[in-house]
Amino acid sequence: MARKFFVGGNWKCNGTTEEVKKIVTTLNEAEVPSEDVVEVVVSPPFVFLNFVKSLLRSDFHVAAQNCWVRKGGAFTGEISAEMLVNLSIPWVIIGHSERRALLKESNEFVGDKVAYALSQGLKVIACIGETLEERESGSTMAVVAAQTKAIADKVTNWDNVVLAYEPVWAIGTGKVATPAQAQDVHRELRKWLSENVSGAIAESTRIIYGGSVNGANCKELAAQPDVDGFLVGGASLKPEFVDIIKSAT
Ligand code: G3P
Repeated sequence: MARKFFVGGNWKCNGTTEEVKKIVTTLNEAEVPSEDVVEVVVSPPFVFLNFVKSLLRSDFHVAAQNCWVRKGGAFTGEISAEMLVNLSIPWVIIGHSERRALLKESNEFVGDKVAYALSQGLKVIACIGETLEERESGSTMAVVAAQTKAIADKVTNWDNVVLAYEPVWAIGTGKVATPAQAQDVHRELRKWLSENVSGAIAESTRIIYGGSVNGANCKELAAQPDVDGFLVGGASLKPEFVDIIKSAT
């Protein structure tokens, strides 16, 4: 079965009530392919999640940008998977490189988070990606395979997992991966899934690309056979996010 194109918008730590209203108005007015063609999920900061969900068109969905690794309790500042489910928030981004770098989230911790979120009924955008140093040293596949293994070691059902390959050197830099660079890693990731999980899961799991995607470069990236969509940062805060949704193949 063909993999449905997926476009995620990671708003990161950005927004005021007025700015959020403006973004949602732009999205609600956008003429885009149907939900049968492309799955659109936007991820505002926690404080705006319910607000965005209440205003957003019904064919678009929302994601949290993180959640805690186990059941809620005495974990000050954390948001539990149960809370997201209670608020009918269907998706969560886990393992973003900014959290891996700034908050030292390890591969194993990310794997545990993905497994727990799935166990509570959430759908997960699981992020992986190498640094510039790792790429330049030729260890890209070793790094992303280890990150993916840490998830595969804890997850059996991949139906609700979207894997987001986000080379750290492309995030926020304007230095987008070339279509060939993205396709090479996506193809190798799908091969890794086939050899280490199952052929069926390799075929059905969407592998999306993130890192300086914009309205100008999305079409060529979307045309790559193993690029199943995008996780967009900066451009998801701008009207060009609609162009990126329209690049769905
Ligand atoms: O999660 C997506 C994000 O890391 C990509 O950021 O601004 O390079 O599109 P950006």
